[in-house]
Amino acid sequence: MKKDQKILLIVEDDPGLQKQMRWSFDDYQTLIVADRESALAQLRRHEPAVVTLDLGLPPDPDGASEGLVTLEQILALVPDTKVIVVTGNQDRANAVKAIAMGAYDFYQKPFDPEVLGLVVERAFSLHALQQENRQLLQSQDSPMQGILTRDPGMLKVCRNVEKVAPSDATVLLLGESGAGKELLAKALHRLSPRSAKRFVAINCAAIPENLLESELFGYEKGAFTGANKQTRGKIEFADGGTFFLDEVGDLSLALQSKILRFLQERVVERIGGREEIAVDVRIVCATHQNLKKLIEEGRFREDLYYRLSEIVIAIPPLRDRHGDAALLAHAFMHKFSRQEGRSILGFKQDALHAMEAYAWPGNVREMENYIKRAVIMTDGSQIGAEDLGLSVPAGEPEPVNLREVRDEAERKAIVKALSRADGNIRAAAELLGVSRPTLYDLVDRHGLKQSVSIKADEA
Ligand SMILES: Nc1ncnc2c1ncn2[C@@H]1O[C@H](COP(=O)(O)OP(=O)(O)OP(=O)(O)O)[C@@H](O)[C@H]1O
Ligand SMILES: [Mg+2]
Repeated sequence: MKKDQKILLIVEDDPGLQKQMRWSFDDYQTLIVADRESALAQLRRHEPAVVTLDLGLPPDPDGASEGLVTLEQILALVPDTKVIVVTGNQDRANAVKAIAMGAYDFYQKPFDPEVLGLVVERAFSLHALQQENRQLLQSQDSPMQGILTRDPGMLKVCRNVEKVAPSDATVLLLGESGAGKELLAKALHRLSPRSAKRFVAINCAAIPENLLESELFGYEKGAFTGANKQTRGKIEFADGGTFFLDEVGDLSLALQSKILRFLQERVVERIGGREEIAVDVRIVCATHQNLKKLIEEGRFREDLYYRLSEIVIAIPPLRDRHGDAALLAHAFMHKFSRQEGRSILGFKQDALHAMEAYAWPGNVREMENYIKRAVIMTDGSQIGAEDLGLSVPAGEPEPVNLREVRDEAERKAIVKALSRADGNIRAAAELLGVSRPTLYDLVDRHGLKQSVSIKADEA
């Protein structure tokens, strides 16, 4: 059965190779052409995700000129196409040139179906990932707009935000710096019945304490030197809407009491004023600090904590979101390429590997900055680990290829079963739900004979 919609365009002028490639890529829907014009015609008609392109095409079968022009035109026509350039085995220089022009990868003859097969498969996966990103980005009018994730933990956070949005409950967002606290607070507001009114944010860490009080509560004319006109505070300003108290852990104890009073009474008094003004706001607050610890240290009021934490939503750090590093990286790469008018086409494997391994202490904001800088600084069309200023971790990247993932999982399960069964094949086979001969085969295939001591006693 053909993998549906995976269209592979093969541009190859050697009839023998054509036949071989058709055979070995039987899994895909293959289109085979022998020259530039037909290649472009098929590209327009079918928009294949992946193209293998022989550089030596007529009228220059021994050079690379025709192949490189074809590459250029393919990428101009459908820039997302993953082109794998196939070159003669002496032709490194042209391979490098093709990569610089935006080819996804190169492959040197002689043809080895298995190796080229892996490259092609990976190109399809990357293409699919990028398409999915684009769709996510384009779902502009969803209220969760701008929040990109595919991680189950983060998706749950988004669902919780949707769930609590309609209520008036006070929400406390916990998360490391740059993890998206403000983004989620805004989403909460947009999804709430208050969305037509204001979303007003104040960052308690950014404003000196003596100014913070007047920012929050406002003041009457003459309340202090410089108070030359009556001024409403931010809380009052948010009336009817949502008030976002950012970095609430940084509030002084004095202001904590005042906020607590506001939460209890729902009235504010401007500095220097006598009047109690009723204000109807929904409070959302956020902090990167550990409030429980601050409470223990006597730096945060416990009663305020209970008021603020009617609903607590903990945002996972980027490093704990499965697959999101690559997802966000591509989204930011597209965004900044557009903004900067650059035609960056993608990331090199080492960049993706490095980004997956890096701990991102500054989370999404940090990544945004890294990618922006790389888009501006990178020569050529592909961002490498070096352009990002990240080091490539030692060891193999985690497999994304389904077969590899399954293999790895299978191997782990076998090792676990064998050790639980203390090496007894029959018991291990039972645990795994396979027959004994099957387990023998599997042990063999995974090369586990040496690494686990298998007991032959099968009595
Ligand atoms: N899931 C996401 N998808 C897309 N962009 C995101 C995501 N999370 C955060 N961002 C972006 O990352 C940046 C930082 O997010 P935000 O300001 O919401 O974080 P924060 O937790 O409030 O950070 P800080 O603690 O530094 O104030 C913003 O530009 C935001 O748009
Ligand atoms: Mg913030």
